[in-house]
Amino acid sequence: MPQAIKKAIFPVGGLGTRFLPATKSMPKEMLPIVDKPLIQYAVEEAAEAGVEEFIFVTGRGKSAIEDHFDHSTELEDTLAARGKDSALDVVRAMMREPGSVAYIRQQEPAGLGHAVWCARHLIGDQPVAVLLADDLILPQKGKPGCLAEMVTAWQETGGNMVAAMEVAPDQTSSYGIITPGKTKGILTEVNELVEKPQPKDAPSNLAVVGRYIIEPGVFTELAQQNRGAGGEIQLTDSLAKRIGQAPFHGALFSGERFDCGSKLGFLQANIQFALSRDDLASDFSTWLKAQTF
Ligand code: UTP
Repeated sequence: MPQAIKKAIFPVGGLGTRFLPATKSMPKEMLPIVDKPLIQYAVEEAAEAGVEEFIFVTGRGKSAIEDHFDHSTELEDTLAARGKDSALDVVRAMMREPGSVAYIRQQEPAGLGHAVWCARHLIGDQPVAVLLADDLILPQKGKPGCLAEMVTAWQETGGNMVAAMEVAPDQTSSYGIITPGKTKGILTEVNELVEKPQPKDAPSNLAVVGRYIIEPGVFTELAQQNRGAGGEIQLTDSLAKRIGQAPFHGALFSGERFDCGSKLGFLQANIQFALSRDDLASDFSTWLKAQTF
C-alpha cells in the first residue's frame, strides 16, 4: 500500500500579473497574510502532513524566497543583542533542517505542468505533493491542514489526488473542473478533468484547487510537453491522461480556501486569518464591528 509523502514541490515561477505593481520586484508568494508570507503557510502545511524535503521551482526575481528560508545571521545577532527573544524564536523556528530545501529554476513561465516537470530529477520514482502557495487554506478549528487530510485519505487509495471544492457555476472558467464519480468519505472519484471550461461546457462545479498528490506516471505524461489552455503546459492535462491507469480522486477538504493570487481573495484571507488568531481576534473584531461600510 502507499508510502508516506516525503517530498513536496512548490511552484513559484508564475509572473503574478494580477498583483502588479506589488509583484514587480517581489514574488507573489512573499505577500504577507497578517505577518507571514504565503509561501511559509504552504511550507508549514506540508511539514504538518509529513513532508521532509521542500523543492521550490522558482523563476526570475524570486530570490527573496531563498533568503526567507535561510538564516539571517545579522538579524539574529541583532535580535539576540537587544534581548528580543520572542522575535528571535519566530525567525529560528521557521528554519528547516539543513539540506532539506532545494531550488530549481523554471527558466521560462511555460505553465504549472512545466514547473512541476522541472523538478523531475529531484523527485525520482515516488509520489510527491504539489502545493500552490497562492491557494491559501485556513484549517477548520481543531482539524488538520488540507494536505494532511489528503495524505490520510491517500494512504487508502494511492494514485493521484487533487484538493476539490465547489465553486459558483459562473466561475468554472478559472479552474480545472472534475466530472465526479463515486463518493466515499471526503473522496470523489475523478472520471474526467477539463481545464478552465466555460460554464456551458463544464461537467460540474467541482473545481481543483492548489493541492495535489501525484504519482510518477504523471511525470511521464508531462515529458510530452503538450500545450493546453492558454498555450501553457497544464498539470491537469497530464493528470487527466492518467485516468484509467492509476486511481484518481478529488478530496473535499474541510478548511476554507482563499485565492490569494486575486486581490479580493487576498483581502478576505487577511481578515479571516486575523480573526482566527488569539493575539488579534478580539481587538480586530471590535474594530471591524465599529466600521460603517
Ligand atoms: P497562476 O495561474 O496564478 O499564474 O499560477 P501567475 O503567473 O502566478 O499569476 P497571474 O495570473 O499572472 O497573476 C498558478 C500557480 O502556478 C505557478 C504560480 O507560481 C502559481 O503558484 N506557476 C504558473 C509556475 O510556477 N510557473 C508557471 O509557468 C506558471
